Amino acid sequence: MAKKDLNINSKDWIDSFFKNPDKYFEMIFEGEGIFDGGSIPKIFEEAIENQKRSRESLIPEIQKKEISPEAPPIPAKSKIKPKKPGQVLNRETFETSRILEYFSEKELRAQIGHDKNFWPVALLRELIDNSLDACENTGISPVIEVEATDKYISVADNGPGIPIDIIKKSQDYLFRISDKAYYISPTRGQMGNALKVIYAAPFVVNPEDPGYVEIGSSGQLHHISITLDRLAGEPVITDSVSEFVKNGTFVKINSSCLIDLSKSDEFYNSPPGMEELIQGYTAFNPHVTFILNGKEYPATDPGWQKWTTDSPTSIHWYNVETLSDLVAGYLVKERANGHNKKTVREFVSEFRGLSGTAKQKKVTGDYSREDLSIFEREGDIDRQALEMLLNKMKDECNEPKPGVLGIIGKEHFTNWILCQGGAEPSIKYIKKQGYDNGLPYLLEIGFAVKEDNTKNRTQITGLNWSPVIGEPPDPSLRQAIQDANIKRTDPVIFLTHISRPRFEFMDRGKTKIEL
Ligand SMILES: Nc1ncnc2c1ncn2[C@@H]1O[C@H](COP(=O)(O)OP(=O)(O)OP(=O)(O)O)[C@@H](O)[C@H]1O
Ligand SMILES: [Mg+2]
Repeated sequence: MAKKDLNINSKDWIDSFFKNPDKYFEMIFEGEGIFDGGSIPKIFEEAIENQKRSRESLIPEIQKKEISPEAPPIPAKSKIKPKKPGQVLNRETFETSRILEYFSEKELRAQIGHDKNFWPVALLRELIDNSLDACENTGISPVIEVEATDKYISVADNGPGIPIDIIKKSQDYLFRISDKAYYISPTRGQMGNALKVIYAAPFVVNPEDPGYVEIGSSGQLHHISITLDRLAGEPVITDSVSEFVKNGTFVKINSSCLIDLSKSDEFYNSPPGMEELIQGYTAFNPHVTFILNGKEYPATDPGWQKWTTDSPTSIHWYNVETLSDLVAGYLVKERANGHNKKTVREFVSEFRGLSGTAKQKKVTGDYSREDLSIFEREGDIDRQALEMLLNKMKDECNEPKPGVLGIIGKEHFTNWILCQGGAEPSIKYIKKQGYDNGLPYLLEIGFAVKEDNTKNRTQITGLNWSPVIGEPPDPSLRQAIQDANIKRTDPVIFLTHISRPRFEFMDRGKTKIEL
């Protein structure tokens, strides 16, 4: 189709796109080597060089002169006079609770990874991620019901229900609590942090009238509120329990002061609306039905398969450090419980491709019935011994192909783009897969020009089936988009999804990654 049929303004990049879409596409996504084996993309190297140069230009000339190693150090003149006894303060050592780390605006901004106006939508995303991670292993298509009003946001799911002990432990700010933390697997959550942040945020926004959080699961409705102990200068968490009659999990953040934060008129630093967020989820989750304030976004493929949280993880996704973390996690848990000791063989059997008895025997040899604690040495993990086990396990099973992560696919991307007003002839889809630093990755990209050229750019990046809020999370991807000169006001749709068993997030808000 010719450009004029789409009624598109003459913009340079659109011209070049229509002249040679394949080349243009390559230029954006492949030419800079974003994913080629973890090497530093050229654009990135240049950026680093420029930064170095500009830093050097700031150093005063005098500081650049070499200092002779023989030159004796010039002793500084002491100006300090000895103090008289009454002038000395004998300092007391005070203990400050770590709970405060979550209860200051600065810290919470770091935890959430966004400015305050993004908090409501960022917290809603955490709740939806939790629901999806939990629902996917129940075998039924997830149904996620979201309500977002001026006074509250809530998420209800048809999953297994958040375990009551996790609701309790999530209120302890000394420990992170997660069923995903030490497993290397492509889950949406991985930090064990989000619930804590959700309790803290309304209080940080308005300590005088913070509102409260409700969590319903397994017959119990927890009403969690925060007050200030003024003496200790410390927030106190109160959890009162009543009856809850529904199935699944229900979480509601009742806090109009928190929700008010999203009401900002800024064009460039404005958070996505709730509907935009849900649309982002529908782009990457063909198997899920979303309901937002009563409006249904039905699953397009309820039987779509992806890696789920109850799928065994592959030993090929671990290195000795990450496997040590997992073993240490088990040992600490066993120590706390005082029972349920896992044998080495049971441990091995939990990995993908190692459920057969013969393989387990071969891998574990003489120590198959020993407890996992044989890897404990002087309060640490014996990495040498564990590395031997790791290598044997790797020898006995195949490395899974990137496809096991779950391919969203051309059909779903195309349909989604069409629903968003993309012009059919301009739709492009590419899939790239491979291994990067020992981990498989799957990259899918959809691109289209919009039928209506008065519309602005729709740009959504997803990591492990969760839409990223704000800018694309990877610097090279951000740079590639910048270089391609696709502006916010350009009428294009631009979907990028990356799945990987683990992202190395550079912040606790899971908004910036290093690929
Ligand atoms: N809707 C839910 N259904 C079932 N379990 C849930 C649900 N929401 C949370 N959980 C449980 O609570 C735990 C803590 O959730 P939280 O969001 O704080 O951490 P996480 O999802 O593990 O990691 P992250 O901080 O990266 O989101 C989860 O690991 C999960 O076990
Ligand atoms: Mg979570």
